Amino acid sequence: MSFLDNKSEILEAAYSALSNNYKGVDVDLYDICKQQRQSDPVIEADFMKSLAVATHADVRHTNPVFAVFKYSDIRQVLSDADTFTSGFIRAGLGQFFGGDGLIILAMDGQEHKETRALLKPIFMPANVRGYTDLISEIAREEFIKPVLPLGKFDLMDFGLYFPIRVIYQLIGFPKDMLGDIYELAAMGLAIIAGPQLDESKLADTITRSVDAADKMRARLVELSKRRREEGDFGRDLISQLILAEHKGQRLTDHEVGTFAGSLLPASGETTTRTFSCLMTILLSRPELWERLKADRSLIPKAINEATRYEGVATVKVRQSSKDTEIRGVKIPKGALVQCLVASANRDEEVFENPDVFDIDRKPAVNFTFGFGPHMCIGQFIAKMELEAALNALMDLMPKLRLDPDYPSPEIKGAQLRGVSEIHVRWD
Ligand code: HEM
Repeated sequence: MSFLDNKSEILEAAYSALSNNYKGVDVDLYDICKQQRQSDPVIEADFMKSLAVATHADVRHTNPVFAVFKYSDIRQVLSDADTFTSGFIRAGLGQFFGGDGLIILAMDGQEHKETRALLKPIFMPANVRGYTDLISEIAREEFIKPVLPLGKFDLMDFGLYFPIRVIYQLIGFPKDMLGDIYELAAMGLAIIAGPQLDESKLADTITRSVDAADKMRARLVELSKRRREEGDFGRDLISQLILAEHKGQRLTDHEVGTFAGSLLPASGETTTRTFSCLMTILLSRPELWERLKADRSLIPKAINEATRYEGVATVKVRQSSKDTEIRGVKIPKGALVQCLVASANRDEEVFENPDVFDIDRKPAVNFTFGFGPHMCIGQFIAKMELEAALNALMDLMPKLRLDPDYPSPEIKGAQLRGVSEIHVRWD
């Protein structure tokens, strides 16, 4: 019996629907971005729409749209959260959350500071390090060891289910709720897949994502209520939210449920996609895989370089709160600014030979986890999961390699990048 016997069709369908929604046209995005950096690094245009993806949750907006390609300009936009705000996300994504989702990504100013302060102790390395053994044990005992007799499988089955299993354990779901967890994860994905360029599909996806958000919240509120009644508080997120103080008061079950719910869409598929890029890059370079296997201290460098080289979300959007300018281009109040982080991560002014995957390069921050006040709060968990996954594969699957009977995996996607299948073998 392995995790492959408990696969969830609804989760896999939701993941594929999300990937399809944000894959856009099949172009060489890095080459287009390179040309933009050289000729026109700030343009007035809905660049992402030209790649056929619904970047703005509120697809019917009428705001002017700009696109920014250089590292230094994107750093400026993401750092200055007073001029370049995130509140518009609530107007868009809020409709897919049924209106009252406490979405930290969509908060600005004081509200964002307070919410972030509430979550920070839970997500910082000092706390997250306490999960190392648990995450590693889940990877080895529940996922890798049971599939060893097979000799081959699609690595993306592990890549999809493992991060979800980990995050939901950290959130505080009992292990015997695995079926429910996969269903909840599918709901989280349905919410992110809500935005559509095709308006004829929009009413349907709004209904489906609002329904998903309502159900998800109800389950989390119920879990919070139960944990509070049982008084059995642990290291999990729900327990820590119940015990935390917000504006001098304890959170209600409804607030705990909505906070936890707003984390779910951000925490699973991002790690899945990153795992898919990381493994594609490493297994396509067997000599590098062997080098990492022999010296595990290089694994964090490989993960950092993979997030730079193939970041899973290519764009971050902000809205200008006043008339301003970037690199001399006037940006009116209310404009939406698409920051092409995929372009910034390959900016030759910051990264030498940016199109080469090089774990030995001089370290510099890349923007795959964002930058500034909204920078990913879950990045230490994500990196820990990726490290645990790599170590488990290296220890337990000798001579892990791409299966020559299948086409080589290729990383694709205009807005969300990744690989859907990575067929591997081992001895
Ligand atoms: C490799 C996996 C991940 C990637 C690439 C990623 C990427 C990002 C990015 C780019 C942002 C910034 C969004 C913005 O500026 O608008 C962000 C924010 C966030 N991420 Fe992640 N993330 C990952 C994993 C996770 C995990 C595992 C969790 C939770 C356990 C998480 C929770 C969050 C939250 C709560 C925010 C919002 C922070 C804020 O608005 O202050 N992420 N993430």
